[in-house]
Amino acid sequence: MFKKVIRFVLVGLCSLSTVVVAAAQTKPVDAEGHPWWQHAVFYEIYPRSFADSNNDGIGDLNGIVSKLDYLKDLGVDAIWITPCFPSPQVDFGYDVSDYEAIDPMYGTTKDFDRMVSEGQRRNIWVILDFVVNHTSDQHKWFVDSKSSKTSEHRDWYIWRDGKAPGEPPNNWLSTFGLSAWKLDPKTNQYYYHYFYPEQPDLNWRNPAVEKAMLDVTRFWYKRGVAGFRLDAVDTLFEDPKLTDNPVLPGTDKFGRPNMEEKYDKKLPEVHDVMRKLRSAADEFGSVLIGETWTSNVSELKDYYGEHNDELQLPMDLMMTEFKGLSADQYRKHIAAVNAAGHWPVYVITNHDIVRSYTRYADGTHNDDIAKMMATLYLTLRGTAIMYYGEEIGMENNDPKSKDDVQDPIGKLGWPLEKGRDGERAPMQWNESQNAGFSKAKPWLPVPASYKAHNVASEMKDSNSVLSFYRQLLALRHKEPALLEGDFQLLNENDPNVLTYVRRYKDEAILVVLNMSASNQNVGLDLSPLGFAQPRLSVLLTSFHKPLPAMAAELPMEPYSAFIAKITK
Ligand code: NOJ
Repeated sequence: MFKKVIRFVLVGLCSLSTVVVAAAQTKPVDAEGHPWWQHAVFYEIYPRSFADSNNDGIGDLNGIVSKLDYLKDLGVDAIWITPCFPSPQVDFGYDVSDYEAIDPMYGTTKDFDRMVSEGQRRNIWVILDFVVNHTSDQHKWFVDSKSSKTSEHRDWYIWRDGKAPGEPPNNWLSTFGLSAWKLDPKTNQYYYHYFYPEQPDLNWRNPAVEKAMLDVTRFWYKRGVAGFRLDAVDTLFEDPKLTDNPVLPGTDKFGRPNMEEKYDKKLPEVHDVMRKLRSAADEFGSVLIGETWTSNVSELKDYYGEHNDELQLPMDLMMTEFKGLSADQYRKHIAAVNAAGHWPVYVITNHDIVRSYTRYADGTHNDDIAKMMATLYLTLRGTAIMYYGEEIGMENNDPKSKDDVQDPIGKLGWPLEKGRDGERAPMQWNESQNAGFSKAKPWLPVPASYKAHNVASEMKDSNSVLSFYRQLLALRHKEPALLEGDFQLLNENDPNVLTYVRRYKDEAILVVLNMSASNQNVGLDLSPLGFAQPRLSVLLTSFHKPLPAMAAELPMEPYSAFIAKITK
């Protein structure tokens, strides 16, 4: 194979200044006309677990405010806060009992307003989580709905007679349990709940529901919220005929029959609602991010809308389901996403998924893998959504026994399904008691690993995961090719190393990721890209050893990342 001689020119890393959107209130476009959210880095905060300002063991909004400088310095442009509205907390906020207030456990509306304005002062936008599919069973709409068959809100939810005495209307299953139907003795009808029974599904076929929910979004936009992450959008509609879902062979981890969710999920009507939510968002220059679980790129494409009039940022959650690290798998997926032509939104972890650090860790190269994966999703074309703690290499901290479990699905499915407590552990701020999260006993325990992985000590260590993230995010904000460049794969047959170039106008940036546990020497032929005698100026690497000044091939350490500017 023809191998080019590569010359490495080590250059200083860029400063930590970020190119961020300007003034508060008006949501700006950048010099090239991109909306504020396109190049923003979003950071998901699970408020119970981020920072506890009043030392009751549960995080809160004032806690978030106290960490805004940290987030700004990290390179975050927008925070997505998972539900902080009043809620009985059966599903830790995803069971909302009032969409237009703040749960006292998190603070007051005044605290909320302060968070928004303190965020705006730093050019950090606030995104809320809108639970569109269901409310809490304690929401006044449902309380009224349940009260009688003729109540004003009866048809705001999905009520049906049983098939026969003691038999639910059909075979649909709740994703968090057994039947998706619960009998209410008062009216002797069943109501439908795709999630917990305490989360009855709204009836989006009722125009009054649609109006009330659209008004909720306007309420928050007027308070300065810059957009929403839309929860569980694919479950908004169900087949009105209530056709049974096809039963598949085998059982799942809860011991239920496997089923194809043909009639209770992903119905086309969802797109009408997305368009309406979008037009409300457009009135305020706001953004809609979708919790869009899809199994392929073409399904994901639909959520942007035929005329780009649905979600600006439907999440690509497909990488979270990849098994192991395979350069080829990532290469094929990313190529398919790019070919689809929309603006991608890559996500590698969140509050429902085992933390990426834990998923990929091999016991030997854990931090290296975390840096390599960070490089992947923060140098691809698209918007990035981080999850709190990912930047310090936080691990899952799964409950040790069923009695320790907080998340109801963990109780239901124990021990095969331990629930989602593990990925929701308190943020690790420092080495002090409770990792500096709270002076009280935290609602979930902190993992023992907080001594090694915490913000304070990683700030002091130039080789830490956090130091790497800070440099990477700074690069991402600074380099036009990383923000805007197109995406060209190189070495497409390499089974171990993923190599690509991001290119914008005169700038080209090379990214090389060794996804294997062994050293790899990577031959680089950049001549097809028009670089006959390229010079590589190193921008960032996760290497442990210094790079040789001259080499025939790029020596990639196990699970390492290399980013360089290519010049002629
Ligand atoms: C998706 C959310 O991310 C998850 O945490 C929640 O349990 C379900 N939707 C139900 O709202």
